[in-house]
Amino acid sequence: MADMIDHPPRAFVIGYPIRHSRSPLIHGYWLQQAGLQGSYDAIQVAPDDLPSFVAALKDGSSGLVGGNVTIPHKETVLALVDDVDDIARQIGAANTLWIEDGRLMATNTDSHGFAANLDEHAPGWDAGRTAVILGAGGASRAVIHALLSRGFEKVHVVNRTVERAKALVDSFGPRTAASGMAELSGLLPAADLFVNTTSLGMDGDDVPDIDFTVMADGALVTDIVYIPLETPILAMARRQGLKTVDGLGMLLHQAAPGFAKWFGLTPEVTPELRQLIIQDMETHS
Ligand code: ATR
Repeated sequence: MADMIDHPPRAFVIGYPIRHSRSPLIHGYWLQQAGLQGSYDAIQVAPDDLPSFVAALKDGSSGLVGGNVTIPHKETVLALVDDVDDIARQIGAANTLWIEDGRLMATNTDSHGFAANLDEHAPGWDAGRTAVILGAGGASRAVIHALLSRGFEKVHVVNRTVERAKALVDSFGPRTAASGMAELSGLLPAADLFVNTTSLGMDGDDVPDIDFTVMADGALVTDIVYIPLETPILAMARRQGLKTVDGLGMLLHQAAPGFAKWFGLTPEVTPELRQLIIQDMETHS
């Protein structure tokens, strides 16, 4: 405790470029709410400088207790830490680092963030059996992990480039299946959950018409993209009368486990925090 007062814990988010990360706002809010001494800052670390940054974290010379890792370091950091947990290993990327018994540990909290967002906004969502995920990038891996660990029996990964979906399915096993875009409409009638992980409709392209009304009764449509808060896909699903959940809560919930490790208490995702981030998005859009 005396050490906490003399040396308040300092945490970070590293990326390159770091641009306008919202993580300092989230952790700053929690520090203030809890009345804790401590700090959380964005640090730009170029790819060539990642090994020396991690070395200084390990030997304690940086004075940092841990932090978040974002693009482009999420995969490369795995080879530099002392211990990678099963979740980060399965997803193939880490976003949270901390020191435990003198060892630098890495995990990935995106899977937790995805599930906790739906727990908050669509309780019971995990009673579903069949899910369709659109997209096969890094973010898709965290969603597949969440769905499999919450008991989905079949997870269809649909991607414009079907080979990328196949590569994911190869690593996640028989409860997952890969498809191309042309198969999407045929998969929806059996689906309880649709997850978009792509930037579809946001780069000026037209969004293909997707008929969500054929989905199972009570089906849910969600997006992990949160800028804009209502993505073209969410808007389409809402207009068709489907229940939707936006991706902002995933960002908020994925931050909580790291805060608990660095600062010693589990923070709460509140409507006030959500509002704070929405306001920031409106100011820095
Ligand atoms: P991330 O790691 O954030 O998921 P990514 O690796 O760039 O990002 O993956 C982006 C995903 O969005 C991919 O599944 C991509 O499809 P391809 O693998 O075929 O490139 C998908 N995507 C992006 N723009 C798209 C578009 N206009 N139509 C369909 N899919 C699109």
